[in-house]
Amino acid sequence: MTDGSEAHKLLFCQTFIATHRSYDPATLPWPALDAGSIDRLRSIPFWDAALRAERNAGIMVSRFADMVSDPLIREAVALQGVEETRHANLLETMLDRYGIQVAPQSGGEPVISKRAFLDFGYEECIDSFLGFGIFGLARQIQIFIPELTDIFEYVLLEEARHVTFFVNWIAYDRAQRGMRSKPVQAAATALGYLRAVRRIVTTFQPQAQGTKLQGVGFGAEGAFRMFGGITWRQFLQSCVDENDRYLSAMDPQLLRPRVLATMARFALRLPTFGRSGRTSPAST
Ligand SMILES: [Fe+2]
Ligand SMILES: [Fe+2]
Repeated sequence: MTDGSEAHKLLFCQTFIATHRSYDPATLPWPALDAGSIDRLRSIPFWDAALRAERNAGIMVSRFADMVSDPLIREAVALQGVEETRHANLLETMLDRYGIQVAPQSGGEPVISKRAFLDFGYEECIDSFLGFGIFGLARQIQIFIPELTDIFEYVLLEEARHVTFFVNWIAYDRAQRGMRSKPVQAAATALGYLRAVRRIVTTFQPQAQGTKLQGVGFGAEGAFRMFGGITWRQFLQSCVDENDRYLSAMDPQLLRPRVLATMARFALRLPTFGRSGRTSPAST
């Protein structure tokens, strides 16, 4: 059921619409935090980038929905726009509640086009994979009380739905345009990821001016400041484990993003070099 047929479209759109949860960030059970926890939260360096990214994503996805001709796909994309806007509201609610100031939100209006939605989708695939891993580690090491990390489950589960919707939509869209052959699809996917990586690297440069659209801004930027002593291997393992956990909640008949998890699994099978920290007898 992943063949770009009408049945495929009904499945990925209706599943997305049916699993939308309605909630108001203001009425979530925000826990009371002690001063140390608030300081730790404040020290996380990406809140302003995350807020800007979610705000821009909400605008771009909602306006792109208006350009979609198929009514069912339009309804699903519009709902994703609602969820992205709510992610920004949730972050704002949290920052406000714990008295954390962020830089004033500035930057230009996002570009609204199918190309922008495509780029955003691939960026979300990367961003959510890393974000799952970061929040998995945060839970493991209990950087914050579980009541706070639990609130982010709402966002992470929605991001898992977004990337699942995206990979199915793109497979459907390509099939509709006659791009059914596996090599063509693989080349288009590789290009999509390359464009996303280039864009993420560019927009996270300190001098970057462009509008940021990465999912929830959960990129690895600055995350390691929270996790002293964590190796890349532990981080990748957390990404793989948590990615499996979130995506296992999706309908098994749907396509799921696989590229990053496959690459990470491959990297984890490689031998570890130079991790002991000991000086070898031959060295001077
Ligand atoms: Fe998203
Ligand atoms: Fe988001």
